[in-house]
Amino acid sequence: MRTMTAGDIDGVLEIEKVSFAAPWTRGMFEETLSSPVATSLIVEEEGRIVGYLIFYLAAREVHVMNIAVRQDRRGLGLASWMMSRTMELARRNSMETCFLEVRESNVPARGLYEKLGFRQVGRRKGYYRETGEDAIVMELILSDDT
Ligand SMILES: CC(C)(COP(=O)(O)OP(=O)(O)OC[C@H]1O[C@@H](n2cnc3c(N)ncnc32)[C@H](O)[C@@H]1OP(=O)(O)O)[C@@H](O)C(=O)NCCC(=O)NCCS
Repeated sequence: MRTMTAGDIDGVLEIEKVSFAAPWTRGMFEETLSSPVATSLIVEEEGRIVGYLIFYLAAREVHVMNIAVRQDRRGLGLASWMMSRTMELARRNSMETCFLEVRESNVPARGLYEKLGFRQVGRRKGYYRETGEDAIVMELILSDDT
């Protein structure tokens, strides 16, 4: 896993566009790369980007903003690995909680987060404007199992 750079955005967008109903634009990734509170990580296999994870740090909280894995590399544990590494890093940096939002219908992502110990702490009604779908807010207490 390494830090994303501007040169990676093309490869990231390829995955992003087929992964989300409302994909992030190039400008959103560029903005994230220049934000002092954001960390953008990618995973490569044989020089090809196969996954990425973007999170923000605010006080003692980690907010996962984006995570995706290339379609032909899903179901192999890559997202679990990216998330576990990130949670480990966060714990070592004294972060207390991790938050994220997930579409109610996103069964794979909800399975991933539940497996990692996240629990539902809220719901944002009609959060996703294109479909009117609710967002499920999930939390992982990082200080629990240190
Ligand atoms: C969600 C996503 C990142 C998971 O990536 P992945 O590398 O395939 O996930 P993993 O292989 O690490 O799977 C971890 C767990 O997630 C759950 N999961 C993954 N794919 C699943 C599927 N198709 N159906 C049900 N559960 C699934 C399972 O609990 C799995 O654990 P298991 O293998 O022990 O059963 C991937 O499906 C993706 O990129 N989706 C599109 C983008 C997206 O929705 N991102 C999340 C936004 S909130």
